[in-house]
This record gives sequence, C-alpha cells and structure tokens, in this order.
Amino acid sequence: QGPRAMMFRRQHMDSKSRPNPNSTYCNQMMRRRRMTVGMCKPVNIFVHEPLKDVEDICIEPNILCKNGQNNCHKSKFLMNVTACRLTNGSRYPKCKYHTSPTMRQITVACLGDPYVPVHLDT
Ligand code: A3P
Repeated sequence: QGPRAMMFRRQHMDSKSRPNPNSTYCNQMMRRRRMTVGMCKPVNIFVHEPLKDVEDICIEPNILCKNGQNNCHKSKFLMNVTACRLTNGSRYPKCKYHTSPTMRQITVACLGDPYVPVHLDT
C-alpha cells in the first residue's frame, strides 16, 4: 500500500488497545507514532477498531471533507476512539496531551486503488 495509507495507519490506528482514560496514553502514543517530531501535533485521534472496519468506511456514501474535497465518508456505526489534545501549557519538545476516550462516528478521507483511508476528518 501507498505511503499515505501507511501514514494513516501510523497516526490513527490502535486496534490492539481499548479506549484508555489514563493520561499517559496520549503522551506515549503521540511520541511513539512520531507526531512529536519537530513540533507537537495539536490534535490527533486513535481508533480502537479492526483495520478492516475502518477501511470499510470508504464504502459509505461520499460526503464533503473540511478541505472542500468530496472524498470523505462517515462511519455508519459508533467507533471506540481516543482523542489526544495538546494541553495549554505544553511547549515543544515536552508535548503533553489530554486523553479523552469516547465513542463516535468518524469521518475519513479515502484515496487510491485500493481505495483506503488516508486522512481522518473528524
Ligand atoms: P499532510 O499531512 O500532508 O498535511 P491527518 O493527519 O489529519 O489524518 O491528515 C493526513 C493528510 O491528509 C494531511 O496531509 C491532510 O492535509 C490530508 N487531507 C486532508 N483532507 C484530505 C482529503 N479530502 N483527501 C485526501 N487527503 C486529505
């Protein structure tokens, strides 16, 4: 698969863990998945569902993405996710995150052949 699909999986897929309210989850995962290199990525969501279920979102009807493109798709079902949001006082290179586990429908942008998620639009 292409580099953009791989980047999506690195940044957004964490199928093996359950939603985790422990504040160390985001601090560790944002670093491990290399989103604290050069800058602290301000917001990122990890999805705790099988990859297949997330890839299947690309089959849902097309909707508009935030960037105005039409290649977004919303999950039919609620998914377990953990949202990571940079804390107010956090300064690079000490990236400190709020960790918020929730269930929500997620929206992904899909591209390519195979047509797979490359961006999380939620
Ligand atoms: P860049 O990383 O080059 O800015 P995210 O990290 O939010 O999941 O986004 C992954 C990449 O997908 C980002 O690229 C983002 O700009 C890009 N993107 C945004 N909207 C998109 C769309 N509708 N289709 C394809 N890629 C999109």
